[in-house]
Amino acid sequence: MNSFYSDAFVFLGATGDLAYKQIFPALQGLIRDEAFNLPIIGVAKAGWNLDQLKARAKDSLEKHGGINQPAFEKLLSLLRYVDGDYSDASTFEQLRQELGTSQRPLHYLAIPPSLFATVAEHLANSGCATNARVVVEKPFGRDLESAKELGETLHKFFPEENIFRIDHYLGKEPVQNIVYTRFANPIFDPIWNRDHVRSIQITMAEDFGVEDRGKFYDEVGALLDVVQNHMMQVVANLTMDPPTGQDHDALRDRKSELLRAIKPLTPDAVVRGQYDGYRSVVGVAPGTSVETFVAIKLEIDSWRWAGVPIFVRAGKMLPVTCTEALVEFKRPPKETFGELVSNGSAHMRIRLSPDMTIGLGVRVKTPGERMVGRDVELEMHRQSTTDMPPYERLLGDAIRGNSEQFARQDLIEAQWRIVEPILGNVTPFYTYAPGTWGPVEADQLIGNDGPWVNPQLHSVE
Ligand code: BG6
Repeated sequence: MNSFYSDAFVFLGATGDLAYKQIFPALQGLIRDEAFNLPIIGVAKAGWNLDQLKARAKDSLEKHGGINQPAFEKLLSLLRYVDGDYSDASTFEQLRQELGTSQRPLHYLAIPPSLFATVAEHLANSGCATNARVVVEKPFGRDLESAKELGETLHKFFPEENIFRIDHYLGKEPVQNIVYTRFANPIFDPIWNRDHVRSIQITMAEDFGVEDRGKFYDEVGALLDVVQNHMMQVVANLTMDPPTGQDHDALRDRKSELLRAIKPLTPDAVVRGQYDGYRSVVGVAPGTSVETFVAIKLEIDSWRWAGVPIFVRAGKMLPVTCTEALVEFKRPPKETFGELVSNGSAHMRIRLSPDMTIGLGVRVKTPGERMVGRDVELEMHRQSTTDMPPYERLLGDAIRGNSEQFARQDLIEAQWRIVEPILGNVTPFYTYAPGTWGPVEADQLIGNDGPWVNPQLHSVE
């Protein structure tokens, strides 16, 4: 474990979209909330100068989160800029000069993965990679083989402990809270297994389409955009064994074991959908068969979970924007009061967005002479998620050297292994109307283990 602080923050792709939407706001937040005070060096090939980058930072913050004057001024005073081609050694010599006395820089590669190999090599040859950390973004490959290749490329220049792979879902408070709630309370673990859990379902619904991201989205689809990464991390947080030990790998070791125990998907465990109108989005290939909705059935091959189906669905243009997990418990072995009770009465509901809620579904007696009851949900906890944005939290962690909430190479490979057999449009897709819950075939997939429980939005005080 390398727990030193990085002493400079370098971001390549400084004039790009990710820097504009996420990195500048995260940096301002870190300066405001945690008094971050280290040189910040943007690198890009845009023919810009430092003043132009400063103007871009201002614009970024005005559009994404707002300017905090003292932190913004500090950010400007720390900002440096190197303009140059990523394939040109002199760009990295300039960067080394800008780094001055820095001995432990962090390099955020906010650039396409196709450039990683060239950039990593130049960082190494120019001396910028010595004792350095590197932060990279998804997609981590296109399949298992390319993910391995990418890992090998990075490992040539950076040891695994200095590679920080961002999955922004891991920086979300409610996602971390799943693990916290499960392991900070003694009541859950005894029932968190095949003896008591009937099924688990997770819905990630978005009520908007792919908007201006047609080109990117059409190369990935719902499965690779959010399920192979974000949703698998949620499944792992919900089902992994308790971590042992205190180091940054304790959690990741358990997650890795869990992900490796998930059986690779077969075509009959997948339903893909595409919303009407997707094909006319700018950047989308005519006649594309890429999915904007996917539902899958997972099985975990372990003593704890054997026989418990785990359903995940994710889609664009659904009726609401909400992500929620539902752990359905088995009914008692005998209905003591002779009622015809639906399965829905015993569950734990964990909402991850737009608010953070934990609810427990139980049956209570209806007042009166007869022993009959009704389903209610005890809301154990509900709060809005106006906490630290994921990028601010994750970049702070990377600078401090805390790798716990970053994806390790073995986790990435385990995620790919699960989806590998269904890559490449091997299953048909069904169209669905915008504003609906996807194709009806998804209901057939969940069958008697369902129905899908559609998240209902409510106001949060
Ligand atoms: C991104 C996907 O990784 O996650 C987007 O590319 C998706 O398509 C987004 O909308 C969802 O994350 P969040 O934090 O906005 O819920």
